[in-house]
Amino acid sequence: MVRPATMCDADAVHQLVNYYAEQGLMLHRSLESIYESLRDFLVCCRDGRVVGCVALRLYWRDLAEIRSLAVSREHRGRGIGRELLLGAVQEARNLCLPRVFALTYEPAFFEKFGFRTVDKDALPPKVWRDCIHCPKADACDEVAVILEL
Ligand SMILES: CC(C)(COP(=O)(O)OP(=O)(O)OC[C@H]1O[C@@H](n2cnc3c(N)ncnc32)[C@H](O)[C@@H]1OP(=O)(O)O)[C@@H](O)C(=O)NCCC(=O)NCCS
Repeated sequence: MVRPATMCDADAVHQLVNYYAEQGLMLHRSLESIYESLRDFLVCCRDGRVVGCVALRLYWRDLAEIRSLAVSREHRGRGIGRELLLGAVQEARNLCLPRVFALTYEPAFFEKFGFRTVDKDALPPKVWRDCIHCPKADACDEVAVILEL
């Protein structure tokens, strides 16, 4: 049920991500930024409706980020987050990336799948280029996790 996103999914992805962003669990994404990065996204659908999403963002030949991982509240706890995360990891493997990272408030979820928590300073500076748009830029409290592939 996990497949690459299409333009038809953009509104649903936007709503899902921003639903959790309103609760401070994720960063807000504009609809424009979702259109621009739509090819990064995988979605999971149930009954024709998008109920989960994840994105794999490429940074450099040896680094990519798993971001915007979200499962709708009523579909949580049914293995969808796992399928999405593993789908993004598989994409990274297909691209011959040696590692992926995530910035998250849910490190324990990622650790279940072999990610390890690292010091954010271990990530290269280019990772922080989006942070200038973040309201928490000066006080980032997300945890960095990395998976070697
Ligand atoms: C975190 C999230 C993606 C998990 O999705 P989910 O579909 O509910 O998770 P799954 O059902 O696939 O869970 C897979 C396993 O992880 C465990 N798990 C789920 N959420 C967890 C969490 N927050 N911390 C630790 N373990 C977690 C489950 O118990 C399950 O374990 P099991 O295989 O031993 O039974 C989902 O809760 C979510 O969208 N949260 C809000 C947004 C968010 O915080 N995203 C995080 C990335 S920025």
